[in-house]
Amino acid sequence: MTQDVFEIMQTTRAMRRLKPDPVPDALIVKILRAGAAAANGGNTQKWRFLVIKDGAKKQAVQRWYKKAYDEVIGPRYAASAPPPGTDATKYARQHNAVEYLTEHFHEAPVWIVVCLEDPKPNRMSGASAYPAVQNMLLAARALGLGSTLTTRHLIYEKEAEAALGLPPGVHSYAILPIGWPMGKFGPVGRGPLEAITYLDNWGEHWEGAKGG
Ligand SMILES: Cc1cc2nc3c(=O)[nH]c(=O)nc-3n(C[C@H](O)[C@H](O)[C@H](O)COP(=O)(O)O)c2cc1C
Repeated sequence: MTQDVFEIMQTTRAMRRLKPDPVPDALIVKILRAGAAAANGGNTQKWRFLVIKDGAKKQAVQRWYKKAYDEVIGPRYAASAPPPGTDATKYARQHNAVEYLTEHFHEAPVWIVVCLEDPKPNRMSGASAYPAVQNMLLAARALGLGSTLTTRHLIYEKEAEAALGLPPGVHSYAILPIGWPMGKFGPVGRGPLEAITYLDNWGEHWEGAKGG
């Protein structure tokens, strides 16, 4: 277990292969507290965190998650090139893990569904949900628990939110399946920092980004 925040950030990978073993409530509460500590617009705290352990409810959502994989995400993975910082082998591994999570989504012992009470959601609304999501992912990692930021259920938003039982005016922004990881944490794969960082003028790479 590590407490170094920089190491935690560099090793908070999508952990898609999770054991079905139960996770103590005390750890879930710790993760939720980390989420509720996040920045949010005007500190209005319109977020609501729906913890789901009910297998039937998770499975009802998994059906839509899988349908979206079969129709949209699977074909996209099959037809796309490896992203920066990875290679064909690593990308194929990621594709396999994505497929695995698709089949086993509902078997993660706990889900946290991050929602906002906002009848007219827009891009600004999401900005009040994702800092909490990221805090939760980092907290889970710090506790040795695996998770993945997932949003794919939103391809079938109406159907999935009905399966989640969300009332009118409440929308979901992410589902975090949480459990003990089958594999080990390791460094995330990203492209070089200098390739995505400019100094003063758009397109002018900052040499300083190579250091540090
Ligand atoms: C906005 C967003 C949505 C995502 N949705 C999904 C998802 O629905 N299912 C999934 O398996 N991974 C999802 N991911 C995880 C990404 O695929 C993952 O972070 C990326 O492949 C990099 O992998 P790494 O974090 O392990 O380095 C999502 C990530 C983000 C930021």
